[in-house]
Amino acid sequence: MGKAVFVASGKGGVGKTSFTAGVASCLAAMRFRTLCIDADVGLRNLDIPLGMNDITALDLGDVLRRDAALGDAAAEHPDIPGLYLLAAPPSMDDEELKLLPALISYAASAYDFCLVDGPAGLGSIVQSCSKVSGTGIIVTTPDRTSLRDAEAAARLFERVGGRHLELRLALNRARPSLMASGGAPNADDAMDAVGIPLIGVVPEDERVIASSNRGEALVLTASDGAAAAYLRIAKRLVGESVPIAKEFLR
Ligand SMILES: Nc1ncnc2c1ncn2[C@@H]1O[C@H](COP(=O)(O)OP(=O)(O)OP(=O)(O)O)[C@@H](O)[C@H]1O
Ligand SMILES: [Mg+2]
Repeated sequence: MGKAVFVASGKGGVGKTSFTAGVASCLAAMRFRTLCIDADVGLRNLDIPLGMNDITALDLGDVLRRDAALGDAAAEHPDIPGLYLLAAPPSMDDEELKLLPALISYAASAYDFCLVDGPAGLGSIVQSCSKVSGTGIIVTTPDRTSLRDAEAAARLFERVGGRHLELRLALNRARPSLMASGGAPNADDAMDAVGIPLIGVVPEDERVIASSNRGEALVLTASDGAAAAYLRIAKRLVGESVPIAKEFLR
């Protein structure tokens, strides 16, 4: 039985897509067959940080309309075996949206992991993902505006997602020196603010930006910084006990 994980945020631009690409790459490198679904309908971009720019001809809409089988529409990464991407469609109507939860459930059984990169905010797509996922990861940056929106997201998913859903917080773009000086909330503050346990802390790392701009998966060229954080999070997702680095804690 595989695992469906949706990645969401309240505030936009906090790093969901980079996070999904990084963690999914690590899961595949750990030999877990991993499908990424880009559910940011109309704004697809997960292919870029994955290093799969425009590699896909078919998308999520084709699968939901049954014009293509999932196995045909999901493209495999050229350099990371076992990593697959189902691209986002330009639009999705209400009938297609109704079929999304069943597709995620099926994908979770056909792959070891199905990671869904959602749009920002608390709209109907992320709400339907929350109903069928075992884990929901809320990504936030360490600032009060993002944390407030993450808290609103957590309360909504607790209500909508039901008891099977485990919610976890990912703190992205963390800067230890700013945290140490009190200029930004640390991981403990973030957990207190949002009220859910932490799955990991990803440091600010300019290679996340540079590798995406080169159209290259970060984990193929880096093994420390954000890449190491994504790997630790992938290990926690498969049940390994990996401590949070002390520099991010109180
Ligand atoms: N750990 C990090 N260090 C430095 N830059 C980062 C990090 N994580 C993400 N970024 C950068 O932040 C920007 C936004 O990231 P990304 O597109 O992943 O966010 P998003 O939450 O998916 O946005 P949207 O809400 O629009 O879907 C990108 O330029 C990305 O390269
Ligand atoms: Mg995104």
